[in-house]
Amino acid sequence: MDGLPEDWNAALAPTFPDGATHLGIGVIGAGAIVNAAHLPAYRQVGLRVRGIYDVHGERAQATGRRFGLEKIYPSVVALLDDPTVDIVDIAVPAPSQYAILEQALAAGKHVLCQKPLAPTWEGVQRTMRLVAAHPRCKVAVNQQMRWTPVIRSLSLLLERKLLGTPVQASMQVSVYTDWRQWPWLLSEPYLLGPYNTIHLIDSFRLLFGTPTRVYARTGRVGGQPARGETQLFLSMEYPDDLIAFIHDHHTNESPDRYATVRCEGVEGMAKGTIGIWENYPEGGPDSFEFWSKRDGASLPHRPRITRRWVPDAFSGPMADLMTAIVQNTAPTLSVEDNCATLATVFAAMRSAQAKRIVALAELLP
Ligand SMILES: NC(=O)c1ccc[n+]([C@@H]2O[C@H](COP(=O)([O-])OP(=O)(O)OC[C@H]3O[C@@H](n4cnc5c(N)ncnc54)[C@H](O)[C@@H]3O)[C@@H](O)[C@H]2O)c1
Repeated sequence: MDGLPEDWNAALAPTFPDGATHLGIGVIGAGAIVNAAHLPAYRQVGLRVRGIYDVHGERAQATGRRFGLEKIYPSVVALLDDPTVDIVDIAVPAPSQYAILEQALAAGKHVLCQKPLAPTWEGVQRTMRLVAAHPRCKVAVNQQMRWTPVIRSLSLLLERKLLGTPVQASMQVSVYTDWRQWPWLLSEPYLLGPYNTIHLIDSFRLLFGTPTRVYARTGRVGGQPARGETQLFLSMEYPDDLIAFIHDHHTNESPDRYATVRCEGVEGMAKGTIGIWENYPEGGPDSFEFWSKRDGASLPHRPRITRRWVPDAFSGPMADLMTAIVQNTAPTLSVEDNCATLATVFAAMRSAQAKRIVALAELLP
């Protein structure tokens, strides 16, 4: 079909600016996601990771050995004092992120924050003020689902208008997640919203824009170890006729688990599966197919996809931040952009609590 990339996988990969490999990265946090995703992704594309710090020194040592890192820093200050570190890549539990971000910005470093930027709406606003006070530092948020094969593929089709005006969009995740692997998450008041569904919401914002109003329901099951919600249904209203919803459910212990994305437009449809939830965090491959009236095809297109969410998508936010640094522009994953994702998340939490429709304007004046 005209307008489609010849090499689909290459079109899904992020683009790094010239000089990216000269920018030094210092990583804070040597936990599960850094080992499974951040460092493998950076190694794959040849980025220059200078060293790592973790409050548990032995974890930093083990990760350093595993990835052949030159320096294991004894403190945040030691990492920030290293002049070869241009970018601080923070991957610690969200409640600890603000204090590190504050120190990194005071040291004049660029920062890649983990999601959620903060675990409460008040925390988000405080973080926004902190970042705004340091305009020379570039700050991006690690919403890497935007670089997953399914979301990038759908974005390629929508940009090229191959589905026509979207009229239906949905994501349905029904899996089992053992939240005890993140002990610090168990006492958080909100679980799926800021920690998981945030990715799905951010992807919907990339594809369809920020919703105007939301209606959400949340659920828990008796005896679950986590305080927060383990099921979230979210209906999102847009100014046009698009009907959009997300259903994110993490207590399905049956063998019939699924994670699907679907979009129907007036001239075509696309659907895919998200492999990561097959076996988190390694996951399986994504699948994707689409059909468009534009080429009169009677059969769907099924591009062969080899890229994965983990680790491949994790180079996306770093490429975005490095581009902003080299070209002195705002990252597409800026905190301002992320504020609209978080406003949608916390509007959903407010909606579920109050059992009413919540307008985004209540949070984003
Ligand atoms: N796809 C994603 O975007 C994704 C997936 C998983 C986790 N995360 C986020 O990444 C972050 C880390 O998650 P994880 O799964 O690696 O958790 P984890 O519990 O496995 O690891 C966290 C690490 O941070 C260290 N740490 C805690 N406080 C610290 C501090 N003040 N200074 C330095 N180190 C500190 C801990 O010792 C631990 O090694 C969280 O914010 C989480 O929400 C994002």
